[in-house]
Amino acid sequence: MHEELFPVKPEVAAAAHINAEKYQQLYAASVSDPDGFWATEAKRIAWIKPPTQILSGDFTGDVQVKWFEDGTLNASVSCLDRHLAERGDQVAIIWESDDPNVHEHVTYRDLHARVCRLANVLKSLGVQKGDRVCIYLPMVVEAAVSMLACARIGAIHTVVFGGFSPDSLAGRIQDAGCRVLITADEGRRGGRKVALKANADAALKQCPGVEHVLVASVTGGKVEMTAPRDKSYNELCAAASPECEPVEMAAEDPLFILYTSGSTGKPKGALHTTGGYMVWASFTHQYVFDYKPGEIYWCTADVGWVTGHTYIVYGPLANGATTLMFEGVPSYPDASRFWQVVDKHKVNIFYTAPTAIRSLMREGEAPVHSTSRASLRLLGSVGEPINPEAWLWYHRVVGDHRCPIVDTWWQTETGGILISPLPGATPLKPGSATLPLPGVQPVILDADGRELEGAAEGNLCLKRPWPGMMRTVFGDHPRFVQTYFSTFKGYYFTGDGARRDADGYYWITGRVDDVINVSGHRMGTAEVESALVAHPKVAEAAVVGFPHDIKGQGIYAYVTLTAGEEPSEELRKELVAWVRKEIGPIAAPDAIQWAPGLPKTRSGKIMRRILRKIAANETDGLGDTSTLADPGVVTELVENRVR
Ligand code: WTA
Repeated sequence: MHEELFPVKPEVAAAAHINAEKYQQLYAASVSDPDGFWATEAKRIAWIKPPTQILSGDFTGDVQVKWFEDGTLNASVSCLDRHLAERGDQVAIIWESDDPNVHEHVTYRDLHARVCRLANVLKSLGVQKGDRVCIYLPMVVEAAVSMLACARIGAIHTVVFGGFSPDSLAGRIQDAGCRVLITADEGRRGGRKVALKANADAALKQCPGVEHVLVASVTGGKVEMTAPRDKSYNELCAAASPECEPVEMAAEDPLFILYTSGSTGKPKGALHTTGGYMVWASFTHQYVFDYKPGEIYWCTADVGWVTGHTYIVYGPLANGATTLMFEGVPSYPDASRFWQVVDKHKVNIFYTAPTAIRSLMREGEAPVHSTSRASLRLLGSVGEPINPEAWLWYHRVVGDHRCPIVDTWWQTETGGILISPLPGATPLKPGSATLPLPGVQPVILDADGRELEGAAEGNLCLKRPWPGMMRTVFGDHPRFVQTYFSTFKGYYFTGDGARRDADGYYWITGRVDDVINVSGHRMGTAEVESALVAHPKVAEAAVVGFPHDIKGQGIYAYVTLTAGEEPSEELRKELVAWVRKEIGPIAAPDAIQWAPGLPKTRSGKIMRRILRKIAANETDGLGDTSTLADPGVVTELVENRVR
């Protein structure tokens, strides 16, 4: 474990919103008087009717948590309208295309008008408060516009990552009961085209509930338009009014649903509501990134993930920031692209995922050194544990030893960052997400649910509600209670393991459930398994994660074929392609091992612990295999381990 300490530089502390002393004060106040603390913080967003009630509910029983319940607001007003007087002509979004020669500046005034136009179009299609709208778009300005336009009229958006397959898209549209889909002709990534409209058409064969499809023109590529369902986004918006009254929403009215993978079953629709989420997005964006007016802020995530929701759209725009949206990939046209974009737009704050850092590390230092990066002040990391080597490289090579790194731990469910350094307050330890933000009370529980004190390792849980937390699983509240509040009664269980050191710093050790984290993307092993067994030649499949140099974790699948089928290289490729098609490229197995049998207990339960060890090549410590129905299976699997 790397325990080198990087102290806060005095000049950084002096210029920051929050120094060490202030952090202590805020944290203490958030624990001793949470209602008073959040009543004050709630003022950071624009309310129509400011709340007088702060928190109701807790993590027991039916878990009905409500924040700011009697307040009313509209999220798009906090992100747009209230900035117009002071910074209408300031750039809200810098859009950098996949093509390095193309970019666009969208001011707050332009963005407001574009959002209102689309909101009017949605209204004209009959979309009302509470209706669900699916957004399946590439990283273009229309994605942010679509989210905010839904918020403006009280529709609930559900963004589906553009890399998901037609089946994955269809499943989400059906679960959410969407009436409208907003998509594009095609996306662009690394010089290649992504056939979004064609995917959407395939998905919609299974979604009779979708009445209207708005198709934005991104590449201008020719696509099939099915009348009267499909309409041109651009034409309708051009003809619509640039003014649209925001709908007054209650704080606990839903803002969006975002699907995320869990240990079991299909992805869950994490539901976030309006008031608490907006307060959390603004609070964390301002303090963790120490955002100051005028700065250029860039989060490289995709809006299809929660990081894009909170830290490209809602957080930065609520704070009147200039947020950069990048359509492309770090390796195109070459491995210098991120740093070229930093120089081109004079980016001050840069937030990315460890997997991107590791893949760029492999290309050496020259592509970084060929750029200046003088504008950079702060670096951030999110999505998976960052290994100390990658942290140190990021700090030394990208940040020239100058920029603090905020390693931010959080989840789709948490709405925003919970554990992270504050650049002006927290001495850094490479690989540690450090300390909880004000209002966050993490605990480490042992297997029996006992809170461990001091330095300890165990299950990471949260003890008290925070405003940005998800409120339910859309359409399935019992699943919400079961998934997050049943393992340890009275606590929110994160699914992550963590170690707390003697300084109280948290070190996230990774998932302790059957979720794997591939390049910062969450994937349920059960989802990949059910895709595999849907193939006619597969009888049974078990999927586990294994350590992967670049991706963090890779996907390792043990596959038992149906009787009479023979393993072959051709079939292996066919199965990889099958999973890509069923779920999307991010779910493609990195390794497939043919398994004549799987290690099962006498009651038929697959012993994943053993499969994980074999995949990780830790075959010396397989532990007790005596409870297996047929211990011989293990020897066979160890001998035929792939790679
Ligand atoms: C992991 C992404 C270590 C963790 C925001 C969590 C991290 C899951 C970190 C959530 C971090 C996220 N250090 N692990 N800084 N950030 N994780 O829902 O396992 O896509 O439970 O949200 O990513 O992934 P999700």
